Amino acid sequence: MRTETGTFRIGPIEISSPAVLAPLAGYSDLVFRRLCRRMGCPYCTTEMMLDRCVSINGKQQVTLVATDRDDHPVAGQLVGNQPDVMAAGARQLCAKGFDVIDLNFACPVNKALRRRRGGYLMSDPILVVEIVQAVVEVGKENDKPVTLKVRQRNKNTDDEGNFFTIAQGAYEAGASAITVHARSVEQKYAGPADWDFLRRVKEHFADWVVIGSGDVLTPESALAMVRETGVDAAAVARGALGNPWFFRQVRDVQAGREPRQPTLAEQAEVMREHFDGAVELYGPRKAPSIMRKWGIRYARMHPHPKQVRMAFVAVKKTDDWRAVLDRYYG
Ligand SMILES: Cc1cc2nc3c(=O)[nH]c(=O)nc-3n(C[C@H](O)[C@H](O)[C@H](O)COP(=O)(O)O)c2cc1C
Repeated sequence: MRTETGTFRIGPIEISSPAVLAPLAGYSDLVFRRLCRRMGCPYCTTEMMLDRCVSINGKQQVTLVATDRDDHPVAGQLVGNQPDVMAAGARQLCAKGFDVIDLNFACPVNKALRRRRGGYLMSDPILVVEIVQAVVEVGKENDKPVTLKVRQRNKNTDDEGNFFTIAQGAYEAGASAITVHARSVEQKYAGPADWDFLRRVKEHFADWVVIGSGDVLTPESALAMVRETGVDAAAVARGALGNPWFFRQVRDVQAGREPRQPTLAEQAEVMREHFDGAVELYGPRKAPSIMRKWGIRYARMHPHPKQVRMAFVAVKKTDDWRAVLDRYYG
């Protein structure tokens, strides 16, 4: 729950601002988390990682679980559907230095649903609570809080029963916080998020940490979500893609200042750092394609977004990336 100074806690971890980085598959890696933290983000979550894969030392897994000394507090998010396998994954994440274990019961993509993972499990409250119980045990052994991410009920088929059974079961099992994406699994990312649902969840679980997710697209909306629904924090997802300055802007708005827009020189500096970080984490061969998708996101901040976007779309190798920066960012 939020304190009078606006901080909140996940277990023993005090978090200093109500805008936190959401889990984002393909985006919330170590490199981007570092940039967000530098801009004032107090807490980050990795993208979802398949439970049984976190202990494999393949190249892809190594980049997924990568964290470092400055990347704290950080939650590692697991997805899976077997309590014992999820517990084993959680043990691995504790050993790798993650501060919090987050469990994904929200992912709406077809691949996850077909494999009975993520959002599929919103229809199986008994199994979800068993998974939470198993992982909370691991958390206790390692002094690490456990949290979960869920979605709103299915508006067509469920009378909210599953949502509240899952939330109540997780609360009683000892989960330290719940993140609620205020859209149903069926909605995926379409349509407005239902903030009134967040308000009702927080009202119901007044003494539990509730993090809201959905339509946090501007710094003002992050603070409005907290103010209007009573949730303890807002998870910043699409709003932060290509805009790590979002977190600095939230602090500006909180302090009653006009949110500072990054200058072109600042944008270029961050993008160079992002590229160098990607080379370090993924290697020089993979980095340009990863950075192409980031360039497309960063282009939104440029005064000529369409032109810059097209230039990033054409990037194939490191020199192409640098040429776009030199040409459009000086
Ligand atoms: C590209 C992308 C990847 C995402 N990956 C994850 C993920 O790995 N785990 C998760 O719990 N949510 C994931 N989400 C959901 C977001 O964390 C967030 O709940 C959702 O985007 C709603 O917030 P928004 O409307 O402010 O974007 C993802 C969303 C996007 C757009």
